[in-house]
Amino acid sequence: MSSAIPQSFIQDLLNRVDIVDIIQVRVNLKKRGANYTACCPFHNEKTPSFTVSQEKQFYYCFGCGAHGNALSFLMNFDRMEFVEAVESLAASAGLEVPCEEKISSEKTASTNALYTITEKAAQFYEQQLKKSSAAIEYLKKRGLSGQIAKYFRLGFSVNEWDALYKTLSSQNKEVLKDSGLFIDNNGRFYDRFRNRVMFPIRDIRGRVIAFGGRTFTDEQPKYLNSPETPIFHKSFELYGLYEAKQKNKTLVRALMVEGYMDVISLAEQGITYAAATLGTAINIKHVQKLLRYTHEIIFCFDGDQAGQNAAKKALEITLPLIRDDIKIRFMFLPEEDDPDSLIQKIGKQAFEKLMDESQTISDFFFDQLKKEIPIRSLDDKARFAERALKQLEKVPQGIFKNLMEQQLANLLSVEPEQLKRLVFSAETKKHPVNISLQRMHPADLIMALLLNRPALIELIQDTQSWQFFKFEHKDFFDLLIMTLKQHPHIKAGDLLTKMDPQYHPLIAKLAAWEFSFPESGIEAEFLGAIECLNQLSQEKLRQYLIQKAKKTSLNESEKQKLTSLLKNKFSEVE
Ligand code: CTP
Ligand code: MN
Repeated sequence: MSSAIPQSFIQDLLNRVDIVDIIQVRVNLKKRGANYTACCPFHNEKTPSFTVSQEKQFYYCFGCGAHGNALSFLMNFDRMEFVEAVESLAASAGLEVPCEEKISSEKTASTNALYTITEKAAQFYEQQLKKSSAAIEYLKKRGLSGQIAKYFRLGFSVNEWDALYKTLSSQNKEVLKDSGLFIDNNGRFYDRFRNRVMFPIRDIRGRVIAFGGRTFTDEQPKYLNSPETPIFHKSFELYGLYEAKQKNKTLVRALMVEGYMDVISLAEQGITYAAATLGTAINIKHVQKLLRYTHEIIFCFDGDQAGQNAAKKALEITLPLIRDDIKIRFMFLPEEDDPDSLIQKIGKQAFEKLMDESQTISDFFFDQLKKEIPIRSLDDKARFAERALKQLEKVPQGIFKNLMEQQLANLLSVEPEQLKRLVFSAETKKHPVNISLQRMHPADLIMALLLNRPALIELIQDTQSWQFFKFEHKDFFDLLIMTLKQHPHIKAGDLLTKMDPQYHPLIAKLAAWEFSFPESGIEAEFLGAIECLNQLSQEKLRQYLIQKAKKTSLNESEKQKLTSLLKNKFSEVE
């Protein structure tokens, strides 16, 4: 926790270092005006949008939004813990970090006292395990060696009311109470953990901060955990992360599992890079923490519905944290297994093979959507695109995001730049057109572009297919196209004089519209809008013909038309 280092020291430190020096040795900064810029180290880009302000001692990326001071840069770039970053920064400034003992704050003294208690308790439990043949027998039965028990510092709490309390009774009673190891019954202390196999929970620096205790009798609950204490915040901690870091110089990947026994049993079988939440659902802090130590996370879930739900939650949490150098996978176990039972059945190699073959985050993302919205019609496509884009909004800019959008477009067999208008086609049905909105009706977009670049009219070959398609301002739309066909170089201002005054407000509004895409993208946008309008009008015509066929009958050319429309529709779904 950061509280061990006084705030005043951190301020002093930040005043002494220069963020430009810190970043410059890691990223190729170029001076531009008052600031420095570079291609952002936190997402993939070709043109620099990462800026460092010497004056403000602050960095900001216009692409992905990454920002912070010298300390946060070190934490994010070098993947350091806060304390590590302070130490590194202090070293570069020639300062000594006041060490914890020297800090006279009461709070630090009492947390230190707590660590002492939990450490003594861990040692006591470890000794007791050696003497308990029942507990040893239980661990053996679960497939654990003495070596791995020692590595995880497993222990045993004897079946007595106050065995631990007796060994610690000389300690400060307040601290004992705060440790969470005792139950206070009107001033009489009892051991919280009795007759259980003990799992010490260690923080990233290896300090014991809490315990989990498993019964091996019928006792309920199966697992008992330390309560929240000043040094234990259950929902932030990852069981096994310290142990994994000790075994692996660099954590190439981390496997996220659910339980203590999963972590330990995996380690027993040689998978030494697993970590577990402590009986809580995975949250963003867990993922952020893991990502400081590894670039690849494999989330492991049960094969049942609960596992699916947990996976969806993990997906949501992870999307905003994705960077191009991060890999995320989702692994689902057979229904009857957890990682512990599975690895004991199939061994390390086969287990790792399953990990390698598990779903990538993008596969899981799209599979999930396909389950929610099976694509059977154009409407489905639009809803699918809408839902997908909405979720992808959370993903920071970068290659990963581009690939996901590309994949989405492929899946819906449209061009990436058409995705947004596909979504629009679904929305227009719900909301009337309002061109002040970011998303315009394709017809409005076509008109606006034509008024700004009349020469685009040459790209319109065939207006036939829109003939029966009604939308707002359709009469002006037809008129505009007809006029421009005759006068392809006319300016918007001149159009005003040519057209009926009733259209002037609309012309002005459309002509004044400022597009957000670059000049080079105009043609693609225009063609995309036309394609989208075609699709909308085909859908309308299809519906019209189907209705007509139901009520009366179709003539020969109508039949042909409908057949070809339906054929298109099925190839679209493909
Ligand atoms: N858990 C808990 N309290 C419980 C049950 C579970 O805190 N009463 C937490 C523990 O961290 C446990 C995890 O949830 O490790 C997963 O629970 P479960 O799947 O029931 O246990 P396993 O890890 O499979 O343990 P075992 O194999 O020993 O039954
Ligand atoms: Mn289990």
